[in-house]
Amino acid sequence: MLDLHCHILPGVDDGASSLGESVRMLHAAAKAGITEIVCTPHCRDPYFDFDAMWDAFEALRSHSPIPLRMGFEVNIRKLRELGLEWVECLKFQDSNTFLLELSTHAGKRDFEDYEREIYELQCKGCDVIIAHPERYRAIQEDIEIAERLVKMGCKLQASADFIKGGRFGKERKPAQRLFDASLYSYLASDAHCVEHYAVFAKAWAKYAPMLREG
Ligand SMILES: [Fe+2]
Repeated sequence: MLDLHCHILPGVDDGASSLGESVRMLHAAAKAGITEIVCTPHCRDPYFDFDAMWDAFEALRSHSPIPLRMGFEVNIRKLRELGLEWVECLKFQDSNTFLLELSTHAGKRDFEDYEREIYELQCKGCDVIIAHPERYRAIQEDIEIAERLVKMGCKLQASADFIKGGRFGKERKPAQRLFDASLYSYLASDAHCVEHYAVFAKAWAKYAPMLREG
């Protein structure tokens, strides 16, 4: 089982704070049935430090019983600031996959801009995954926005904490609606600490059969 979104690297964002915590998270991930991990630290302020994040990845890899790949959770505002020349460096390692985080409070109009920017990423060869659409207000209000993203070739990724209400406490019902409409392709831990893997295991048991094929 692949987990393609987590904050397991030590000391680089709001996830694991030390190598010891990262290693405990790795063992919790293995216990939850995860066999492959993409490490996706935040590419946004105030955390983003490309070299420090790669150093943390190399440090953790030597301690990992699970194969690890490097990646990033790229915030769209940060990407605008960095510029498209960064895209190659921010894809998942050895892959064209690009994990994109949108703004929680973005309105319907903002999504028109997002669609243009996503198209530019796709023109650069990216397979775009949208992180936790259940958190975005516009999608909570209008599921059609999520349908449009899927139609344009994006894959949607649910973050497991929605089963407990989610990061902002309002995500359970929107996620259920997106699952009912078969719009999700991935369910990820988005783990920031050891305890999040038990939540992931619980979500996986119930919702994995509802993911889209392919
Ligand atoms: Fe995340």
